[in-house]
Amino acid sequence: MYRLVYMSTPKRSLSSAELSTILAAATKNNDRNEITGILIQDRKRFLQYLEGDQDKVEETFARIAMDPRHHAIFRLKSGLIGRRQFPGWSMASKTVNESRSLTDVVKELVKDCDREVAEELLNFAEARDRAV
Ligand SMILES: Cc1cc2nc3c(=O)[nH]c(=O)nc-3n(C[C@H](O)[C@H](O)[C@H](O)COP(=O)(O)O)c2cc1C
Repeated sequence: MYRLVYMSTPKRSLSSAELSTILAAATKNNDRNEITGILIQDRKRFLQYLEGDQDKVEETFARIAMDPRHHAIFRLKSGLIGRRQFPGWSMASKTVNESRSLTDVVKELVKDCDREVAEELLNFAEARDRAV
């Protein structure tokens, strides 16, 4: 199983309708490509985790990276892991509202993940929270 984690910045604040459009395309394509993962949006960043077949994940990431709705995309991590972490989610999505930290939200999402992957995602979230 191959996973890729990246962070990016929305070009402008996206409406919930725009976010739904993104998620509809993501769910449809990811289902077809057997990709699963999570997409979290806080006020200023996207944090996305994608997992599946390496070629499919890289192809998907290349498409996402060209999307004009966000920019400043940087890959935080990619490589092989032991097993699929989010089998039930062609793309789980969460918006972090004012009253919560990204770390809190990630903590909830990684409850059933292997420790290695959970810690990696929590470390990214904590670094982001410290930077805000
Ligand atoms: C933050 C963000 C996350 C996205 N995540 C995915 C994704 O997981 N899978 C996907 O296929 N497209 C995703 N997209 C959409 C792609 O950039 C692209 O618009 C879409 O794959 C095109 O699909 P279509 O040709 O079926 O419309 C994402 C876009 C953004 C801005």
